[in-house]
Amino acid sequence: MPYDDVIDAIGHTPLVRLTLGRDTGVRVYAKLELQNLYGMKDRVAKRTILSAKATGELPDDAPIVESSSGTMALGVALVGTALGHEVHIVTDPRIDPITLVKLRTLGAHVHIVEAMTGHGWQSARLERLELLLRDLPGAFWPRQYSNPDNPLAYEALAAELSGDLDTIDVLAGTVGSGGSMCGTARTLRRSLPGLRVVGIDCVGSAIFGQPDRPQRLQSGLGNSLIPPNVDHAVFDEVHWLNDREAFDSTLELAAEQKIFAGNTSGAVYRVLRHLSEREPPGSVVVGILPDRGDRYHQSVYDDAYRKAHDLPAMPARRAPVEVEPGTVVGAWSYRVFKGGDRATSDLRRGQHDRDRHARDPYGAAVGP
Ligand SMILES: Cc1ncc(COP(=O)(O)O)c(C=O)c1O
Repeated sequence: MPYDDVIDAIGHTPLVRLTLGRDTGVRVYAKLELQNLYGMKDRVAKRTILSAKATGELPDDAPIVESSSGTMALGVALVGTALGHEVHIVTDPRIDPITLVKLRTLGAHVHIVEAMTGHGWQSARLERLELLLRDLPGAFWPRQYSNPDNPLAYEALAAELSGDLDTIDVLAGTVGSGGSMCGTARTLRRSLPGLRVVGIDCVGSAIFGQPDRPQRLQSGLGNSLIPPNVDHAVFDEVHWLNDREAFDSTLELAAEQKIFAGNTSGAVYRVLRHLSEREPPGSVVVGILPDRGDRYHQSVYDDAYRKAHDLPAMPARRAPVEVEPGTVVGAWSYRVFKGGDRATSDLRRGQHDRDRHARDPYGAAVGP
């Protein structure tokens, strides 16, 4: 079907059935968000920018600013410049060269902060962003971590899944801002109230109550704080993978399924294999694969990088271990949130973190 323009072409991604070892009678599908022009966040940029234009928050001649070094930066550069806006991306020296080339070639202004400040690169970027907002009056900041349009962008993804499948029993995907999993799951549950939702996080991320370890290597998922768009009540289960497990699985995804993807897709692949063995025959499981592998060629896919970061020395489990609340994990582990209220009841620690940061570091007031 022809699309009117590149923005109209966002979404409509393929759903592909995966063959995973022996036939267990569980049907497993991968939603290839990596086949968006840049990645999954093209959807978020489309929704946030179009809705800001509709409400008048983003006038036609106003610039757009965002702090990101990954998929959100690319989505904002795509949609913002396609609609004729000046786009400013604030990032840090860790940005990969492929993303940098894409951003600049699309016409975005890229601001690379030079040094960490009080809270590392994150605070350095936010301080630069504040300066930009001051220098560019009327500029629009999409704020993916707290903007409700982020999860709402995934109503379209959920509609695509509902159009492609008669039913879905389990939805699995990574959690960074929380937008993709919370938005997709909430929408699907309107017609599939029994849907089970499996979130995937990394070892050393605070999102599901683990102690923060900022030196973690996985990008895209995980966070040092709990973003307001993470709604714990959505999740029935969470898995944590360490860097080695996620990177190994990303390589396996390419070798076994021919899908050359980023580390978050690799983490999802590991959990999909597990679910294909664990779920009852006849179940339908869907995993979301967010972005392509090209920009990870010097990290995830690079032997020297993996050795330099001591990945071969890290423990690697072929199956997850179920852990009790409060357990600090170092390798593939999972928790099932029992009781009717999903993940909320025993993540009070997370709630405390949330309250403590009544203004989140992304600059938006933390909502309920
Ligand atoms: C590559 C990649 N995968 C997964 C995610 C997590 O998605 P979400 O922010 O919707 O939780 C992100 C978020 O930035 C990402 O960039």
